[in-house]
Amino acid sequence: MANVLLVGIATLDIIYSLDHYPQEDAEVRAQGLRMSRGGNAANTAVVLSQLGHQCTFLGIMADAPETAIIEQDFNNHGVDYSHCPHLSGRPPTSSIYITKAGRTIVHYRDLPEMAAQHFTSMDLNAFDWIHFEGHNVAELGKMLAHVRQLRPELPVSLELEKPREGIESLLGYPDFLICSQGYTRNYGQDNPEDFLIRMQKAAPGKTVVVAWGAAGAYGKTTDGQSCHSPAFPPPRVVVDTLGAGDTFNAGLIGALANGVGLAKTLEAACKIAGVKCGLEGFDLKWPKKQKRPPFPGAALYGGDGGT
Ligand code: FRU
Repeated sequence: MANVLLVGIATLDIIYSLDHYPQEDAEVRAQGLRMSRGGNAANTAVVLSQLGHQCTFLGIMADAPETAIIEQDFNNHGVDYSHCPHLSGRPPTSSIYITKAGRTIVHYRDLPEMAAQHFTSMDLNAFDWIHFEGHNVAELGKMLAHVRQLRPELPVSLELEKPREGIESLLGYPDFLICSQGYTRNYGQDNPEDFLIRMQKAAPGKTVVVAWGAAGAYGKTTDGQSCHSPAFPPPRVVVDTLGAGDTFNAGLIGALANGVGLAKTLEAACKIAGVKCGLEGFDLKWPKKQKRPPFPGAALYGGDGGT
């Protein structure tokens, strides 16, 4: 199992379940409310650790009482956050409204972005893999250049979730480009295969993956071979899609770090994303009373997991 460093944002998520999305100026009552730790790289770390990998998260932590919720969840899942710099302020906070039609996120952040020096001062020798959330382009560029100089052989993945100014200048550094459908809008592309061809032209020699919702996920190996996996919906109903993409990323990194080929990796990642959609939150262990293999140990995240 791998020792993975994940660099990004940890958020406080305030999640409301609603019958329907309210109109402006309306007053509605929510059916449920929960507060939890969120953030793409943080979600990915929590899932990867349940798959048996050792995870370290690096991102800014606010010196505020609410940060306890974030830290508690990392503690529960054995994610090391001891290298995180602390700043005074509030944690990045998302108000999330979940309805049957989807989830709407209102994100607030006033903490400054993390400076590259917090990353470059870390000892990278212990890690087998480094994963970056694709934002904070200027500082991210310095971090990526640093890894390449220090550990040129280390597998590095970059999440491209949304179009961000200047992010294309970083595509040469990572080995794995993990794109979401939202990012493809940057290219005005509505066909995953065309998008991947275009990405590999922009970043030759990279493994490129794109998640495509109900159509599953598509990928291209370094030598241009195409792979596809269908989506694996949860066995019963879709309960919670918040962070399904982050869970997919965890499945992807976990399998690739274990030396699994891209086709099987896509399948494993789609399976675990499907399991997650059938559960609330990110605690993917099956309840003891159900006779199913618990994570980690569910071979390549297969089976008909979920509650
Ligand atoms: C889900 C998520 C939430 C967080 C938001 C940040 O992918 O990471 O947990 O609030 O996105 O953009």
